Amino acid sequence: MDKELIKKSLGVHPDFPKKGITFLDIFPILQDPFKFEVLITHLLSHLHSHTIPKLSNGGKIDVVVGLDARGFLLGPVLAMRLGAAFVPVRKGGKLPGQCSKVEYSLEYGKDVFEIQSNSIKQNQNVIVIDDLIATGGSASAAGQLIKQQGGNTLEYLFIVALPFLKGLEKLDAPAYYIVEAE
Ligand code: PRP
Ligand code: MG
Repeated sequence: MDKELIKKSLGVHPDFPKKGITFLDIFPILQDPFKFEVLITHLLSHLHSHTIPKLSNGGKIDVVVGLDARGFLLGPVLAMRLGAAFVPVRKGGKLPGQCSKVEYSLEYGKDVFEIQSNSIKQNQNVIVIDDLIATGGSASAAGQLIKQQGGNTLEYLFIVALPFLKGLEKLDAPAYYIVEAE
């Protein structure tokens, strides 16, 4: 089953980036074109069977927002396959032009996320993708930026979730994840 394949393909790195945290790495999946295809097909099939059917007459996913850094690797592929725009939410100071910004707390530290102004139009339907949700600080900050731009967040997608950290409860829309880590 594809969920099992994805789960067993994650790299497991105890004590990274600091002691006590076990880092789950999606890069082994991207290093294998078959596994990467399985991953993208799994996410698309979820969107086509659950997310898109809920949209009223002719509604579509307009924008895929990918979070810095690993959401940048997954988001554009999904966006192309959906015929949607890809919009990055980046760490502070990296995006050119006018941006809106929001500060957020991370599992290990504080950071700033930015989005380019006018990259999302009023009432556009948005999905958000990142590799992992831990405390939910990153994803909920991205949700705030999307709201500021006038976008309508339909759903958050993650490869891995750590539900015991209760990050999913911070989000302003439902979340879908493939692997649950303890
Ligand atoms: C990791 C991970 C998620 C975020 C999840 O990224 O890729 O983006 O933490 O944590 P949260 O739910 O507690 O916010 P990180 O910010 O460490 O950096 P990177 O993606 O730039 O490597
Ligand atoms: Mg990240």
